[in-house]
Amino acid sequence: MSYYVTTPIYYVNDKPHLGHAYTTVGADILARHMRQRGEDVFFLTGTDEHGESVVQAAEREGVTPRELADRNAVHFKELVSQLEVSNDFFIRTTDSEHVAVVQKFISQLHERGEIYSGTYEGWYCPNCGDFKSEKDLVEGRCPIHKVKLEREKEDNYFFKLSGYQERLEKFYHDNPDFILPKHRYNEALSFIKQGLEDVSISRSKISWGVPVPWDESQVLYVWFDALLNYVSALTYAADTDLSEKFWPATVHVMAKDILKFHAVIWPAMLMANDYELPEQMFIHGFLLMDGEKMSKTLGNIWDPIDVIDTYGADALRYYCFREVKFGQDGSVSTTGFETRYNTELANELGNLANRSLAMIDRYRDGRVPARPEGELDLAPQFGEDYVQRIRERFDREEISAALEDIWELVRTLNRYVEEQAPWKLAKDDAQSAQLDRVLYTLAEGLRTLSILLYPYLPATSIKLLGALGQEVDAPSLDAAPLGVGEGGQKVGDLPPLFPKLESNGD
Ligand code: MSP
Repeated sequence: MSYYVTTPIYYVNDKPHLGHAYTTVGADILARHMRQRGEDVFFLTGTDEHGESVVQAAEREGVTPRELADRNAVHFKELVSQLEVSNDFFIRTTDSEHVAVVQKFISQLHERGEIYSGTYEGWYCPNCGDFKSEKDLVEGRCPIHKVKLEREKEDNYFFKLSGYQERLEKFYHDNPDFILPKHRYNEALSFIKQGLEDVSISRSKISWGVPVPWDESQVLYVWFDALLNYVSALTYAADTDLSEKFWPATVHVMAKDILKFHAVIWPAMLMANDYELPEQMFIHGFLLMDGEKMSKTLGNIWDPIDVIDTYGADALRYYCFREVKFGQDGSVSTTGFETRYNTELANELGNLANRSLAMIDRYRDGRVPARPEGELDLAPQFGEDYVQRIRERFDREEISAALEDIWELVRTLNRYVEEQAPWKLAKDDAQSAQLDRVLYTLAEGLRTLSILLYPYLPATSIKLLGALGQEVDAPSLDAAPLGVGEGGQKVGDLPPLFPKLESNGD
C-alpha cells in the first residue's frame, strides 16, 4: 500500500525555529513507522517561497526575494537533515516544475469558468499572507502575529468557492475521519456551514509570485500556489511521475493556524478540477513559550540547531512529542527539556540498556540466553496485541499516545530488573535457569523497544539494535512483539546512549 505524508511548506521569510521542527519530525515519525510496516512511503516537505511576507523580509534585509529564499531554503534543508528527517523530496515553490503545474492547474480552473475578476477589500496581514475578517481582529491587529493590519483594496481574480458549500458538507458527512482530532473536524465543518464566500486568488500589488497565465499583470495569491505543492511535487520528485502511485495523499500534517486553507479551500480547489481529495489531515497544536505561540514575529523562539548540537537530534525529537501531545498546545522550556533528558532518556532508557547489556556480558559471556520454554515473562503484556494497539494509534496519527504506550514498556522493564535482581540470581547456581529467563526477557524487551522507538529515536534505535546483535536496517514492525526473538545472539558494546549533561545553570 502507498502512504503519502506531507508537512506544510514553510515560509522563507526567516530561519526555521522549533515550531517548524515539531511538524516535520511529527511527519517523519509517521513516515518511519509506515516504512516499518512495509508500506510504500512518500514523504514530502519543503519551502513556500512566494508571497508578501517574503517580499517584505527581503526589503528589510536589502536583498531580493529570490536571494532571501535561496538563503533561507538552505537553513530549512539543513534542519531537515540535522533532525534525521527521512523526507523523500524537498520542494521549493520557486522550482520551475512547480510553477508550470500551478499555471496549468489554474488555467484549467479558468477555462472551466471557476474564476472571475472582481474587486477585493479587506484587512491584510502580510505575515499570514491572508486577509482577516473584521471579527478576527484584536484591536486592529492580527490575532496570531499581533501586527497592525492595513486596509487593502485591489482588482483581482476570484475562485468560486461559494459554489462548493454543499459538496464540501456532503464530503465531510461521508468522511467523518477526514480531519483529526475530531474537534478540528467540527471546527472546519462549522466554518463551511456558516457559508462560504468566493476567495481572491491573485494579487496585483506584488510581482514576486507565479504569474496568472492569462493576465501577467497579476501573480497568484501565495496560498493558491502553495497548496498545489502537494500535487506538483509528485510530478517531478523522481524520474517517473509518481502521481498515479501516491495521489491522493494519505495525510497532510500541520498546525491549527492553517486549518481553514487546507480543510476548506484546498478540497474545493481539487474538486473544481476533478482531483481526488486527500484521505486525512492531522491538525496539531502550537508549541508555546512563556504562554504564547512560538513564532518568528513574536521573537520567542528556540533554535533547534542549538539543542541538536548539545543533546543530539534524538533527544529533541523525543522531548517534543513527550512534552507536547500531538494534537494539543503545550509549553516547552529548557528546564523541562533537561529534566526529561536526564530522567527519562539517560536514566530510564539509557541505564536500562547499559546495565542489561553489561549483565549479559558479565553473567553469560556476552550471549543472550536462548528463548526459554513455556510462558515468557512480560510477553503476554507486550506481545502481538500491544504492538497492534500501537499500529492503531498510528492509523490515527496519535504519536504521543503511542510513545506513552512504549514508555510503559521502559518502566516495566526497569521494575522487572529491580524485582528479579539478576545480580542476586547470579550468585546462586540453582537459579541459573531463572537468570537465563530474566536476561532473555531484558534483551527481548530492549529489542522490542528499539523497534518501536525507531520512528522517534532513529539513531538510538539503530545503535541499540546493533549492540543487541540484530539486523539494523529499518527494523520491521512484524518483529516487534516481545518474545518473537529466539535469543542466542552475541551482544556488542554500547556507549552511553544519553550521556548525562550537567545543567549550565541558566
Ligand atoms: N507557508 C504556509 C504553509 C503553506 S502549506 C501549503 C505557512 N508557513 S509557516 O512557515 O508559517 O509554517 C506554518 C506551520 O509551521 C504551522 O502550520 C506548523 O505546522 C508549523 N509551526 C510554526 N510555528 C509553530 C509552533 N509554534 N508550534 C507548532 N507548529 C508550528 O503557514
